[in-house]
Amino acid sequence: MILPIYVYGEPVLRKSAEDIDEKEILTPDFQQLIADMFETMYHAGGVGLAGPQVGKSTSLFVIDTEPFKETYPKVQIYKGAFINPVITEEWGEDFVFAEGCLSLPQINEDVTRKSQIHIEYYDENGQFREEDFSGLVARVIQHEYDHLEGKVFVDRLSPIKKMVLKRQLNEIATGKTCAAYKTVCKPR
Ligand code: NI
Repeated sequence: MILPIYVYGEPVLRKSAEDIDEKEILTPDFQQLIADMFETMYHAGGVGLAGPQVGKSTSLFVIDTEPFKETYPKVQIYKGAFINPVITEEWGEDFVFAEGCLSLPQINEDVTRKSQIHIEYYDENGQFREEDFSGLVARVIQHEYDHLEGKVFVDRLSPIKKMVLKRQLNEIATGKTCAAYKTVCKPR
């Protein structure tokens, strides 16, 4: 089932997501949520989607870097769900990449992040894993991980850049910006 995506201005995007009990991972409800999040992400043309973006303050995100292949033929393709993730380390060079977000339609801005990460998490089979990622896979994970901490990528921009985007952000928050997918934006 395709879920509506919560956009900038919605309070759920500003909350810290809650860890779930590992025993819940294999329940039909949670497995359905994972499946719905993949479906929603593909439908909207995204490479990652976090729980808060579908209105669930749950420590879960899904990613699939396959769509990058067209632009970056050498990209590492990684598809998976990350549950109760913890990025324990970030290192390497500062890496600049123009990010976008399904919760911030029509905004793309350069964000600087470290190029490598170490992450611990449970996968969709309830298996505990720890892995290193780099490049664009690390980038997508870092972006989604921010969502679980109540952050969005524009929080990482300079004050000047944010000022320039103020009107655009306000238009998203007041429902004036359209997306090609279903969104939730309550009138304020
Ligand atoms: Ni995002």
